[in-house]
Amino acid sequence: MSDRPLFVAGAAGFLGRAVLSAATRHHFSVRALVRTSAQAAAIAAPQVEPVIGDLLAPDTYATALRDCGAVLHLAQSSSEDLSDLRRVRVEGGRALFRAASAAGVHRLVVGSGYWVYADRVGLLTEESPLRPLHLSQVNFDTEEVARAEARESGVEVVVARPGMVYGPGSWLRSWVQDLKDGSFRFVDKGANFMSPVHWGDCGEAFLRLATTTVRREVYLVVDDEPVTVREFSEFVARTLALPPPRGMPLAEAKSVWGDEVAELNSASRRASNAELRRLGWSPRYPTFRDGLPEVLRSLRVADRSPSSPR
Ligand SMILES: NC(=O)c1ccc[n+]([C@@H]2O[C@H](COP(=O)([O-])OP(=O)(O)OC[C@H]3O[C@@H](n4cnc5c(N)ncnc54)[C@H](OP(=O)(O)O)[C@@H]3O)[C@@H](O)[C@H]2O)c1
Repeated sequence: MSDRPLFVAGAAGFLGRAVLSAATRHHFSVRALVRTSAQAAAIAAPQVEPVIGDLLAPDTYATALRDCGAVLHLAQSSSEDLSDLRRVRVEGGRALFRAASAAGVHRLVVGSGYWVYADRVGLLTEESPLRPLHLSQVNFDTEEVARAEARESGVEVVVARPGMVYGPGSWLRSWVQDLKDGSFRFVDKGANFMSPVHWGDCGEAFLRLATTTVRREVYLVVDDEPVTVREFSEFVARTLALPPPRGMPLAEAKSVWGDEVAELNSASRRASNAELRRLGWSPRYPTFRDGLPEVLRSLRVADRSPSSPR
């Protein structure tokens, strides 16, 4: 499989760029689905062939799927509307998976997230009980669409469930902004755990899940050290010399964010990377203390640049 190109949907996005960067480092060819010529120019690299199209219009990319070894579904709508998110993740996924198996692709890699799991006091593993809510329900339904395609066509499915991927963009940028303007809040004392993973390590993990023999269908993608939300956010604030973060009671969080989002934000997720490590992956940044300072520096530099993308 490894000498065949990879097809990455959502290639100009946060995780898409992490995968492109890992693939380039390991000399894999990538066909990169993007929506605009500006995005195509932004991801230009040797062995990356941009394909301008739309996930929901398979005729815009079906030809590019030929000879590919695996497809990775990392596309999502930037809208906060759940039906838009569902349209791109679930319906776009259905279109992509059908077109991929029709083109003879062997493996579908679904970018999901560890929010599909229920709150847990102990260690979270791939087998832990599920409780998809809100956005994580959309990711879980996308997984299910891939599983349905596998039952139909025999294509192999691998589901990657990363934890909190910190890197140049996404939620970390919002956290920094909220810390700056004083609106950042954790729930209660922020004693619930999150499991971070560096963006570059996440890209490496996705590449491995797309290109090597796997032992199971689902993999958690997290670094070696879960951390409380309070400790992580205090670390960000300290590093950037911002005021320390504050908490709000769960009842207030529910009235501000809604019940489901408050539940997601207050849940404890101390996830294990043991299964991923069994595939030979190991994080270059084993803990947030190793990777976060440099990421925060790069965010600070990017935010000073007038042309920085958000
Ligand atoms: N970020 C994290 O920390 C994290 C952690 C765990 C899991 N995840 C999951 O990983 C997935 C990707 O997340 P992300 O943060 O990388 O998202 P992102 O940065 O928003 O990137 C999504 C990409 O998909 C593209 N896209 C949107 N609609 C499309 C369409 N119809 N056809 C083709 N491409 C389309 C977007 O292009 P435009 O910019 O043109 O809209 C964008 O480039 C999501 O399912 C997310 O839940 C993310």
